[in-house]
Amino acid sequence: MTEAKPEITPEKLTLWGPFRDDPIGVAAGLRDKHPSGIFPLEYPGGRIGYGILSYDIGRDALLSPDFIRWAPPNPKPGRAPMAELVYTQSLLNLNGPELVTQRRAFMELFKPGHLQATLAGQIKDIITHVVSDLEPGAGNIAQTLGFFLPIDVMSGLMGIKHLPRETFQRWILTFLAPHNHLGGSSREMWLQSEAAGVEMASFLEAELKERDQRAADGKPVADLLDRIARSEVLDEKPRLAMAILFMVAAFDTTQGSFGRGLLALLSAPKQLKLFRDHQGDRNFNRRAISELLRIASPTLTTSRHADKDTQLGGIDMPKGTELLLFLNAMNRDPAHFPDPNKLDLERENAGDQLALGLGAHFCMGANLAKLELEHAWGELLRTFPDIALVGDGNVEPGPSPNFHDVQRLDVNLGARIS
Ligand code: HEM
Repeated sequence: MTEAKPEITPEKLTLWGPFRDDPIGVAAGLRDKHPSGIFPLEYPGGRIGYGILSYDIGRDALLSPDFIRWAPPNPKPGRAPMAELVYTQSLLNLNGPELVTQRRAFMELFKPGHLQATLAGQIKDIITHVVSDLEPGAGNIAQTLGFFLPIDVMSGLMGIKHLPRETFQRWILTFLAPHNHLGGSSREMWLQSEAAGVEMASFLEAELKERDQRAADGKPVADLLDRIARSEVLDEKPRLAMAILFMVAAFDTTQGSFGRGLLALLSAPKQLKLFRDHQGDRNFNRRAISELLRIASPTLTTSRHADKDTQLGGIDMPKGTELLLFLNAMNRDPAHFPDPNKLDLERENAGDQLALGLGAHFCMGANLAKLELEHAWGELLRTFPDIALVGDGNVEPGPSPNFHDVQRLDVNLGARIS
């Protein structure tokens, strides 16, 4: 097989600032330049990989066993030990049978039937409680409902009781901020990230030890941390890495989807009415939630690595070729989703969306996230029928350029109906 020789000048990975500020605009500009939806990328140090905007090519990569998740054996310069733990010891970096074994050990907790039987009631209660606490009038909904939603649900699921929400948020945002595929993170950001990672890890280690003790005393508790502590498929380091992974994977993503989805709904009055009119209609809701996730797609990029000499999109890819998949852009590929920037809750193929990934590493919390979002949007819009954006919502993204999340979204709730 011949080595891939891009005929077009590779794009340099210097997207940090512009991408953080306007990921959709930047991706649209790249698509205009590279209509095939795949283009060469120059990584720091001169390595050539490929960026993918095309839905079809990206889906092929995510489903192909030739492309795997991979972390370099030596720490990237600047990558801190706590991050190293999560990247190399959690299932994020596993492939093949080991990945399947670890996922199986936890997947059953997130199956729709299990969720309905165990957590659905608790999640509804949490959301009803948080919505009933909202003060009528104007405020930043990303810092109230959007912020409490993933924290309260994950704390409930993991069995975390005495952690202030603000600490939970600070750890995760600071820990994740420098992690992205686009470079640009300062040394200070890495140091702060490591410090937050150490605090989070010592808290979770103590929680895991408490679960060990309770089990030894014959009084085990039934929560996710207990499941991790007593898992037969995890040793000491991987169990801590798994606990951190669950905590960080659920926060920015859910908050981002909630805020971006709400922004899309409040900006499209006919779709908002449709959403309200169909509450309780399971079939409509399933498609509508997928469409909102497609438009909101909070995880902007993920990466893969060719495990052998292979091909993708008609291009030869030698073993080791890196791919940067622009998930949000793949969800806005006009070749797959006509009129992609329009929210269309009745879009026939909305279920094809890739906001939750696809294939071997498909989001483990996908069903939980959909359940949370459906109840959160539904309950908010039911309780506050006159809810509207303040201006254009004064949207502010979070610190990481890998997430299309939202830290500020100003809405006027209007009067409450009970
Ligand atoms: C709307 C909210 C969410 C979105 C958009 C989202 C998105 C994603 C995406 C795109 C991936 C795949 C990354 C890749 O293939 O490289 C992923 C993986 C993952 N997600 Fe989520 N996620 C969400 C909520 C959650 C929640 C609530 C949990 C926890 C219960 C969770 C746990 C995980 C885990 C553990 C993985 C790693 C799976 C693996 O590598 O095998 N996610 N998520």
